This record gives sequence, structure tokens and C-alpha cells, in this order.
Amino acid sequence: MGSPATTPAALPRETIRRTREGLPLDDDEIAAFVAGIADGRIGDAQVGAWAMAVRCRGLDTAATAALTRAMRDSGERLDWSAEGLGGPVVDKHSTGGVGDGTSLVLGPLLAACGAFVPMVSGRGLGHTGGTLDKLEAIPGYQVLPERATLRRVVREVGVAIVGAGPGLAPADQRLYAVRDLTATVDSLPLITASILSKKLAAGLQALVLDVKLGNGAFLAAPEEAEALARSLVEVAGRAGLPADALLSAMDQPLAPVAGNALEVADAIARLRRGPGVPAADGTPDDPTAGGNLDRHDSLVLALGARLLWRAGLDDTPDAARRRLHAAWADGRAAERFARMVAALGGPADLLERPGQHLAAAPVQREVPPLPGQAAAAAVQAIDTRALGDVVVALGGGRLRPGDRVDPRVGLDRLAPIGPRPAGAPLARVHAATAEAAEAAVAAVQAAYRLGDAAVAPLPLLGRIVTAIPPSGHSR
Ligand code: URA
Repeated sequence: MGSPATTPAALPRETIRRTREGLPLDDDEIAAFVAGIADGRIGDAQVGAWAMAVRCRGLDTAATAALTRAMRDSGERLDWSAEGLGGPVVDKHSTGGVGDGTSLVLGPLLAACGAFVPMVSGRGLGHTGGTLDKLEAIPGYQVLPERATLRRVVREVGVAIVGAGPGLAPADQRLYAVRDLTATVDSLPLITASILSKKLAAGLQALVLDVKLGNGAFLAAPEEAEALARSLVEVAGRAGLPADALLSAMDQPLAPVAGNALEVADAIARLRRGPGVPAADGTPDDPTAGGNLDRHDSLVLALGARLLWRAGLDDTPDAARRRLHAAWADGRAAERFARMVAALGGPADLLERPGQHLAAAPVQREVPPLPGQAAAAAVQAIDTRALGDVVVALGGGRLRPGDRVDPRVGLDRLAPIGPRPAGAPLARVHAATAEAAEAAVAAVQAAYRLGDAAVAPLPLLGRIVTAIPPSGHSR
């Protein structure tokens, strides 16, 4: 990006002042500020002050869209038009949760249905898990391949789940690092621009957004989550990217598993067994999910159906859902996953022999209910954020940027909200040491509220937020 003229309005201090006062910012002023973030001309103090001004005063939709475009244009933009792909280029994004391995299943499943998925994913943030950290539990898997490799894998396999790397939306990488240190992550316009700048730079034709609400979400309140969903789809629409957002519950872990290698193993088991078949170990089905699908697999199908329909591969979301179900049940999605892993440097037999490649933690401990609660008939509530923090404390996430992540640790057999067999454990801890396991057992016990009366969890799926009416749907 060229250097913008230094007009008074483009001086960083002036942009910060205008943002702080809630005055309108024009597109050129925003572009100049973002260019200064990307090339380092604007120092951390000014970036932090501006982020705080946005956090406190907000930005209107036009300014958020201008910020998103400027961040998209701060680096490379992928263009798939020369690849001769025989289907739409699509992706899914989640605002972050606990026990949510949907990307690992949905990416290959979309590819098996004829879409092409350059899935630009992130690392764990705060208490939430990150798809890149999960994939790095696979020995040899390259999360930052060369561009030529990314293009080849998307062209030949249909899906590559990778990181943004320094090339895509570099302004976001710098701004995000400053936000993380300045308590300015939870800003609607900044989250919107951060998420969409990377997705737009990846050259998508359609996007589905999974916006979480509930106590394990970044924005827990339904009205906040809905406002974020609306901001995301409106700004995506202004940038020419058709997008829908599904509001989904994060008042309990999505799957009964949280931790990097554990979630990869869980995704492989789901891909292999197909949708709608209960887990062999008796993992309880979720009563709100309907049928015999559990919550995780229900969400995979809901997101995928909306996306394939929005991308024009199917005439109705129902037809898309049938296509997804078939490609999952007959093993095509599992096959795409195996090919993606091998093409990006992982073992060729991961699907057949996950236990040989995914490292296991040396210590495993069951988590009993607290004394006096063993006979309680129901799990009434789960502090989902606290469970995510347990995984981080075990070493499965980062307390500081650059911390090394231990892929082996985490939680599985997590009891869901609802009726429970008397005396049943709440979860199982996978830890690097006995001391870490002990601390985790106590923290998981504290995160569960048990009682005799059953309490209904949030319904898995809430509203669908869309900016483009269905009648505008075309390929
Ligand atoms: N994910 C992102 O990529 N950016 C944010 O700001 C929040 C979640």
C-alpha cells in the first residue's frame, strides 16, 4: 500500500482525537491510519490509544466497513479465479468457544460436497481453543504452508486449514497484539474488522459465521452476540461477501472434549462414524439437539447447510443438509480430511491409527462430583469459561503470547447439562503431572453446579442473522 499524503486529518494524533470525540472518520483517514499500523509508522502507544477510543466510542457501520477494507488491503489478497476450481470458494468462522471442533469436521465435509475451502484459522484466544493449535497436535502438519502449497492443496483436495501468516491482513496481526494487551479485544467494530479482513483477504465467495452466546462466549449476552452477528453480516455484505450468521449456544462445551490432541481424536472419530450415530463410549446425546445427533454434529450440519445454500450449490438449505449428510455418512468427508493432513505434511495413516500419532498425556484422572453432590440427579449449569481456563492452566493454551502449548492435555467425558446417572464422574482430566491433574480436578468440580431439579440448557441454535434476503440468492 502506498504512503498516504500527510494531511492534517491523516495525522495519527488527530485521528485518535476524532475517534475519541465520536466524530465521523472518512475512508481515507481510516486507510491512512491502518497503513501506519501495518508498516509500523504508528507506534504502539498510538495504536493502543486509538483502539481504546474505538472500544469506548464505537464506530458506525460505514467506518467499520472502511476499517475492514483497509485491513484486508494491508497485505496480500488471494485470488482463486485462475485456478479453474469447479465450485464456490467458501469458509466458516466461529467467534470462539470450548470443545468446539466443528471446523475440523466441516472443512473436509464442505470439500466433499463440491466446495473449495481455504480455511484461515486462528490460535486459542483467552479461554477458547484454536483450530491451529489443534492441528499442530498432528506431527508434521504445516499450519503455515507456502502459498503455492496452499493453492495446490485447495485445488486438489478441496480444503486446507491454515493460519493467516504474515501475508494476510498484517494490520490485524499488529492491532490484535496491541488489543490483547490493552483490554480492547471486546469491541464490536474491532472484532468485526479483525475477523472479516482475514476472510476477505482469503478471496471467499460465501461465508457462514458461528456467533456464540452464553457463559463460554466472548460476548455472553444474547443481545451483544446478536449485535456482533449483525455487524459481521452487514460489513461482509458491504464488502461484497454474502454471509449469514447463526447464533449458537456456548453455555456448555459443544463436544464432551476440550484440548488439542483430544479434539483432533474426537473429530477423527466423528468423521469416521458419520453423523447421527451415538458415540460408542455412550457419550450422552443432547436432548435439545433433536434426533440422535449430538450438539456438535447438529451444529456442523446447520452451518454447512446454510453455507452450501448461500454459495449456490443447493437450492434449499434442506437439500444442502441432505448432501452433507450423505458425504459424511459414506466416508467422503473422512477421506478429504486424511488427504488434507497428508498434503500438509502430517501422517498418511492418521485416520486409521490416530493413537499412534496423537500424543497422550501421562496422567489421567476422573473428576468425581464434590462430596455430598454425588447423588444429585442433574447437571444444572456449567461455567464454560472456567472449563476453558482449566485447559489453559493444564498447558493446553497460552497465558502469554509465545507460550508453548502442550497438545496432550485437556478434558474429556465432560458431562453435559441435563439429567445424570447418580455418582457418575463429571469429566476426565488429561495432565502432564499429578499436581496439575489435582488442580484441574478441583477446578472442574467448581465449574459444575449439580442439583436435583433438571434445568434446560440454552437451545443449541438461535436466530439466523442475514443481511442479504434469500430472494437475492444467486450463484
Ligand atoms: N477472532 C479474531 O480473529 N479477531 C477478534 O478480534 C476476535 C476473534
